[in-house]
Amino acid sequence: MRHLLEIDDLSVDELQHVLALAQSKAPPQVLQGKGMALVFEKPSLRTRNSMEMAVFQLGGLPVYIQADEIGLDTRESVEDVTNTLAGFHAAIGARVFEHSKVERMAEVDRVPIVNLLSDAAHPMQALADALTIIEEFGSVEGRTVAYIGDSNNVTRSLGLAVGMLGGVFRIASPSEYSFGEDDLALLRSTGGTVETMVDPYEAVEGCDVVYSDVFTSMGQEAETAIRLKAFADYQIDGDLMRAAGDAVFLHCLPAHRGEEVTSEVVDSPASRVWKLAENRMHAARGYLAFALGEMS
Ligand code: CP
Ligand code: NVA
Repeated sequence: MRHLLEIDDLSVDELQHVLALAQSKAPPQVLQGKGMALVFEKPSLRTRNSMEMAVFQLGGLPVYIQADEIGLDTRESVEDVTNTLAGFHAAIGARVFEHSKVERMAEVDRVPIVNLLSDAAHPMQALADALTIIEEFGSVEGRTVAYIGDSNNVTRSLGLAVGMLGGVFRIASPSEYSFGEDDLALLRSTGGTVETMVDPYEAVEGCDVVYSDVFTSMGQEAETAIRLKAFADYQIDGDLMRAAGDAVFLHCLPAHRGEEVTSEVVDSPASRVWKLAENRMHAARGYLAFALGEMS
């Protein structure tokens, strides 16, 4: 039983295999006649659509479920919902607030669980990030990814993926929003190089990829004003991209134009954001092809 709660639930070999499957032109019909439940506690554009299309391309039926409607942990416990859905579906994906909810689903261990974003991790995003970097540069190995902004779920999964694939990961965050020792130890456990700094200009020097995410993640909206102030010097604008030289720009999206990034950068020739968004579907298909049994 394969669960993907964080990207390092895959070995390095498995991660490379999933990325190869993501680039395959012939999707194995591993979900023929089967369904996948997609449970969302939070909004989504890319994750929902990429998962639904990936399931469809693998021959299956995606069933979108709003957590509010089924009362996840209010009308029924996470475990009871998981056991019920496991009777209908070959796999369950879930976007949740607390990471413990996807852990509880995985503990039921009836069908593969896929984390579609939790407060701790966003592994399906990291798969697409890696795929996009590979398409751009041929490999992640030896490339430097400079992440600018909040040290969050996207940062953690991206940093793990970059480290697993032999890249250098730099994080520029204000000190009060930087990773603590535990997270840095986790990222370094891949054997990858992780560098932290407060100055975005230092982070982008000689890098290959500049990466951005929102300053205020879903669920943190009450902190918006304080975060906008704290991250005022972390906007990716034309000047920062010029300092980054030939680097490409990635953002998991949605972008808050005028906050963490300017429109000038999102819409610039260096931007690969639409390619990355599309790659969410290819990465999802590659992962499901792997997890649901087509191992080669
Ligand atoms: N990047 C991403 O996960 O986008 P959505 O929140 O729209 O799914
Ligand atoms: N860090 C963001 C990512 C959105 C795709 C969030 O959790 O809201």
